[in-house]
Amino acid sequence: MSGKRTFTMIKPTAYKNNCTGQIIQKIYEGGFHIAAMKITKLSKKDAEKFYEIHAERPFYGELVDFMSSGPIVAAILEKENAVEDYRKLIGATNPAEAEKGTVRAMCGTSIGENAVHGSDSDDNAKIEGDFFFSERELH
Ligand code: CMP
Repeated sequence: MSGKRTFTMIKPTAYKNNCTGQIIQKIYEGGFHIAAMKITKLSKKDAEKFYEIHAERPFYGELVDFMSSGPIVAAILEKENAVEDYRKLIGATNPAEAEKGTVRAMCGTSIGENAVHGSDSDDNAKIEGDFFFSERELH
């Protein structure tokens, strides 16, 4: 059984398109507890740091510009097997390939503007959650 926490962001386009409510609903229906949540906005420097793992990828500049283009919702979610189960709930990275009913199929518009981010490992969930939240913001 993998860890109990994962980290997610509702990306700028999904936030702007008023998808936040639907996404939170899916999160609850998936059996997750929302341990922390906030609306915030990444500076370009924040987005560069958050996505530094992708710095060598050709889409890095585009990703950083997009993720710092408007408000986002950051959250820490709890459930047994959180990382894997949340990735199932959100669907494939490219919304065009995401299974019907998944968050990205519902609210994503392109591979870059794919509605939400979800951590890909327990270690990254911890690093990413710590990027946004302090221990006393977790409930
Ligand atoms: P995310 O889960 O936030 O992690 C890295 C992001 O890079 C990914 O979702 C996509 O939104 C983005 N990404 C991956 N591949 C591409 C691509 N080919 N072009 C633009 N963005 C991409």
